[in-house]
Amino acid sequence: MEKLQSPLKYRAATYKTYESPLEITTEEADVFDDAREGQPLKDDSTMLIKVHAAALNPVDILLKAATPKVIFASRTKGFGRDYSGTVVRAGARVTAELGFRAGDSVMGMYRLPFGKGTVAEYVHVNPFKQTAVTKFDPAQLSYEKAAAWPLAGGTAYTCLFDYVKIDGWTPAGGSHPDRAILVLGGSTAVGRYIIQIAKNVLGVGRIVAVCSGASAEEVRSLGATHIVDYKAVKPGESYATAVKALGFKYDLITDCVGGREILSSAAAGTDIHDFLKPKSEGSAYVTLTGDAKLKYARMPPVLGAIVCKTRELSSRIGLLCYKYVVIMTEPSRAWAKAFGDWIAEGKVLVEIDSVHDMDKVQDAVDRLASNQARGKVVVRVE
Ligand SMILES: NC(=O)c1ccc[n+]([C@@H]2O[C@H](COP(=O)([O-])OP(=O)(O)OC[C@H]3O[C@@H](n4cnc5c(N)ncnc54)[C@H](OP(=O)(O)O)[C@@H]3O)[C@@H](O)[C@H]2O)c1
Repeated sequence: MEKLQSPLKYRAATYKTYESPLEITTEEADVFDDAREGQPLKDDSTMLIKVHAAALNPVDILLKAATPKVIFASRTKGFGRDYSGTVVRAGARVTAELGFRAGDSVMGMYRLPFGKGTVAEYVHVNPFKQTAVTKFDPAQLSYEKAAAWPLAGGTAYTCLFDYVKIDGWTPAGGSHPDRAILVLGGSTAVGRYIIQIAKNVLGVGRIVAVCSGASAEEVRSLGATHIVDYKAVKPGESYATAVKALGFKYDLITDCVGGREILSSAAAGTDIHDFLKPKSEGSAYVTLTGDAKLKYARMPPVLGAIVCKTRELSSRIGLLCYKYVVIMTEPSRAWAKAFGDWIAEGKVLVEIDSVHDMDKVQDAVDRLASNQARGKVVVRVE
């Protein structure tokens, strides 16, 4: 077993406030129990992972944009949540109860807002708390691809399985040729995973994706049965008109880009009942973003968030006649395991937009912030 410096010193992408640059700094972590033979970890419930790749998500950029100068301004904050790497130390409890051991290749999501991040040479994880971690075979899946799904994939899983209530609609798989889903933002990283799971795991018959014409062929190849090009809409009109013209009613509508067009569109003369099946049939409208259109460089307006949360609360207490949910993806062993299996079985393809070296992490951020990424933006750490 490789002897490591104690305390552990490692390079990581960090920042202090929204104004300061994202830079590569040397961080220190006091993780080893030097008094014991073999340099084990101090905490038996943790494992230390040497990171090979990390992937970025819009939330990383939004969190940095939301870090004011007055809070913890002197403390460095890490960047990134998704990672893949090799376990270099596993606590005894981690090995006994969860089966992770040194040498395992693992992929997962590490969530510590304003704490450490995954664009770093090492992450120190407590898998009893940071449960979204699973093993993989590097001969079958590259480290870049292994890092390029956890948060987006877990979000897709949450959208599909946590709110729709239909017999046989489970991660175990099934066949639902008479069911329909609508994915607003079909070419987003999350949308791409939703489409593939809907097609290859749930066997959904109609998968309608709203995306640009430029992304249409790729999105169709992933499983979308119908495409609505939101960029082909004439000024003063809404893409809701084109969605309505398809004539389907949906069991699930997932919004990966934000907006109100499907909830109610004066330009199209439509409202949610033109699209969503009755909630008595188990249907749901699930949004990742709320009413504001996705803009990565700044936080969505507070007022918009209040409107969405009020709508969600009204839905929960039965004041709305449809189920409306704003999700916040939580780490989960269930989705990590299921998604890892789907990748290994070829049911879900991991698509990478671009790979950037850690020293060029800002290029990766700029690419994601362009709002044009086709698949995941990955940072190669080693
Ligand atoms: N709540 C949660 O827990 C959670 C978790 C994950 C992500 N999210 C949020 O979900 C959103 C999507 O994240 P992501 O990482 O999947 O995005 P992403 O991969 O960065 O999305 C980029 C894609 O969005 C498409 N797009 C841009 N504007 C659009 C519009 N007006 N209508 C339809 N498509 C549009 C573009 O494709 P085309 O223009 O070519 O179609 C582009 O390729 C972000 O706002 C993110 O913050 C939330």
